[in-house]
Parts: sequence; C-alpha cells; structure tokens
Amino acid sequence: MAPSALPKAVLAVLATVGALLVGARLAHPAATLPDALLAAVQRLNDHDMSPSSVDAEAGGNGTVTYDDFLAIEDVRAFLKMKGLSTKDYGDHPTLFKYVPREVTMSKTEKLMRGELGEAASAGYVAYAVAYYDGSENTASYLIVQDMEGSLLQVAPLYGEVLRNKGLSHANEGEIYKGIGLKNYNSTHLLVAFGKESALTGPRALFDVDSGAWIELCDGESNDSHDIQMAYKGAALWQADGRTVTKKFSAADGSELAEFQMTDIADPNHVQLVEEDKYAFVSSRQTDGIVRVHVATGDVVYTIGGEYGDFEIFDAAGRKWKKGTSLWVGQHNAEYFGDDEFCLFDNQEASASSTLNAFDVASTDASRSAMAATSPAPALSGGKAAKTSSRSRACLRPDSLSGLS
Ligand SMILES: *[C@@H]1O[C@H](CO)[C@@H](O)[C@H](O)[C@H]1NC(C)=O
Ligand SMILES: *[C@@H]1O[C@H](CO)[C@@H](O)[C@H](O)[C@H]1NC(C)=O
Ligand SMILES: *[C@@H]1O[C@H](CO)[C@@H](O)[C@H](O)[C@H]1NC(C)=O
Repeated sequence: MAPSALPKAVLAVLATVGALLVGARLAHPAATLPDALLAAVQRLNDHDMSPSSVDAEAGGNGTVTYDDFLAIEDVRAFLKMKGLSTKDYGDHPTLFKYVPREVTMSKTEKLMRGELGEAASAGYVAYAVAYYDGSENTASYLIVQDMEGSLLQVAPLYGEVLRNKGLSHANEGEIYKGIGLKNYNSTHLLVAFGKESALTGPRALFDVDSGAWIELCDGESNDSHDIQMAYKGAALWQADGRTVTKKFSAADGSELAEFQMTDIADPNHVQLVEEDKYAFVSSRQTDGIVRVHVATGDVVYTIGGEYGDFEIFDAAGRKWKKGTSLWVGQHNAEYFGDDEFCLFDNQEASASSTLNAFDVASTDASRSAMAATSPAPALSGGKAAKTSSRSRACLRPDSLSGLS
C-alpha cells in the first residue's frame, strides 16, 4: 500500500440522513490518525423529522478541555493503566500524551440543519482520533459529542479498556485506532480497528449510550480503511487494499463472497449500493472512483484519473479532460446518495489535502444514468461530473485549517 500523504490530523465527516456540517478542532497535541473519520448519528426515533423552515445562524460552538476528559471514568482508568495516578495529572507534558488538551467544535447552523431542519440539532458527531508522539501512538479515542460540543461518550481504544467493555479478543497493552467508522443504526456505530501501527484489526459495534463494544467476526482482523454492513444478512464488506473486496460473516469472520477488480490500484474505500449489486470503489493509485458490477467485477464506469470516462469540471468551471486527474491519490471517496460524492483529495505527494464534495452530472441524462440500476453504457459518451464547493454533507476544506 502506498504511504499515506494525509496531513497530521485528518477528520472527515459522514452524515447519515440529510445534511451536516461540523468541524472539530483539536488543539495540540492533536489527533494524528490517518484516515480518521467522523460519523454522525441521528437519533431518528426520538425526534420529529418533518422538514423545518428554521434557518437560524445562531448556535453554540463548544470547547471541551482535558478537565472534561479527566472527569470520565474510562479515561482515568486508561491513565491508570499507563501509570498515571490523579496526582500526576498536573504534569501536563505527560498528561497531554494521553488526553487531548482541547477540542473545539464549530459549526454553521444552517448547513448543519440542511434538509433535516431542527432535528439535526439532536444528532451526534462521532470521530476517532489518535495521538502520535513522534515515535508511537500513545493514545487513541472514539469520541461522541452532541451538536453543542458536549462530550457524550469517550472510549479509550486501549486493549485493556476495550476488553473490559466487551471486546474480548483485544490484546491488553495495545493501542487500537478507530479507522473505519460508520453508522450502524441509531444507537450503534460500526468500527474497523487498526491495531497498533497496522492498517488491519478487529471489527466491532459501539453502543453510544453505554460505551460497550460488541465484537464482530469472532475477533478476526481485516483491512481497516473501510467497512460496510451487507444489504442482507449478518455480514460486512471490506476492501483488501489491493484488488479484492470481500464479504465476511459478522459472526465468525469467514469469507462469504468477493469481487476482483481490474484497472484498480490501492482500493482503500468501497461503498456497496443498490442492494449490493454495485460498488463504488476508490482506486487511489489511479485517481479514480470506479463503479463496479459486484457479480462480475466488471467496471461500469470510472470517474477521474487515467481510466476516467468523463470530463470533469472543477469549482472554477475549468474542464479536466478524460484521462486527467483533478484529484490525486484520494482517500475515502464516499458516495452519499443523490449523485453526490465526498472525498479527501490528498494530491498524493503534496502536503495540502482538501476535502471535496462533488455532484456527479449536472445534466439530466447522466443523472438518470447514475440512478439506473443496470449498467449505464450511456455514460460512456462522456457526461460531465462537476466539482462543487457546496458541501452538503462534508466538512469544507476551510473548516479543516488548524488541524494539520
Ligand atoms: C461557530 O463557528 C463558526 C465557524 O467558525 C462561525 O461561523 C459561527 O459564527 C460560530 N457561531 C457562534 C455562535 O459563535
Ligand atoms: C442497533 O444494533 C444493536 C446491535 O445489533 C442492537 O443491540 C440495538 O438494539 C440496535 N438499535 C436499534 C435502535 O435498533
Ligand atoms: C482477512 O480475513 C481473511 C479470513 O479470515 C484472512 O485470511 C486474511 O488474512 C484477512 N486479511 C487481513 C489483511 O487481515
């Protein structure tokens, strides 16, 4: 796998239903987890989901500090396992290797509410962060905050704590990173861990209310970049980072199905769509987002990069010819529905990664082709995809400043 060119701290956001725009800023020592994700959990059951006309810009921007983290029992337990007792908490250089000094959440209320309206305020923001002190990861957390920035759940991703909370195969003394992070249902998150410095690890469900873990796949490991539950049955999909995406039994981790992919290199993120008939595969080394027919592994079409089938127009209206790369070495290309993708444009070797949202196709023809449930040869005529600074469900690049 190619080395990641991500900035030191990278937080991307996934929204469940409708729109969410939230940024979390971590003060030094910052999060250093490549490919960390934010996920939003909407409490759909508890709130009226009717559209709201409320369009207020007002709303709190919360900051929590290490004191808030130290008030949490699991955090103190983690510190104790690391040899820090309460009387050591005043030793800030040491403390800040294990606990964030400050997390600031800022949001643009209107964008956060989006099509959900007022109900969006009852959502959560979940993200995984890890601290790298220059030689090793010393701390790693899954953090859930409400939309005002209050801490709702803080899970230290440390072997012993994880074991105590239900992840029975976690190794004591090892740090785990919450690399693949998705919504599972309205109360649980789905996590693909990376163990220590590896980009592979176990998979689990996290109960946001209780902080308990449910181990999946009998504690077996796989690639941690991405994870998705299958459309049917207790199974999940993960890419292997090379050429194959596999379906695993959530019960025992055995392989149930796979699809091979051609003209794809470093497929780090995959979303299965349309009842698992098709997949959007992010092919990092070819700068492409590839629609694959799952049963055959055939490429339906590719957006971007050397195998790209479409002209792409960037936010400035500039045309990128077929076969050229607007984004380079992207991470976490994520299909959000409604012809919209979100991705981290690493620009490969450059230090300036940006998070972009783009709409595929401004024309009716290609829009309907995108929505088609069968392979869409009409698209090979070269319809336009259009990048956009309109971030319906993504962090905007400017809200990421200060994170690196
Ligand atoms: C919250 O932060 C955002 C982004 O920095 C800013 O635009 C907004 O005005 C802030 N809102 C409040 C109430 O401070
Ligand atoms: C979410 O899934 C978990 C694990 O299967 C389950 O225990 C929980 O009840 C589910 N939550 C809802 C609201 O269905
Ligand atoms: C993924 O799971 C399969 C089946 O358990 C296993 O053979 C393979 O080594 C795993 N891959 C990784 C990267 O852990």
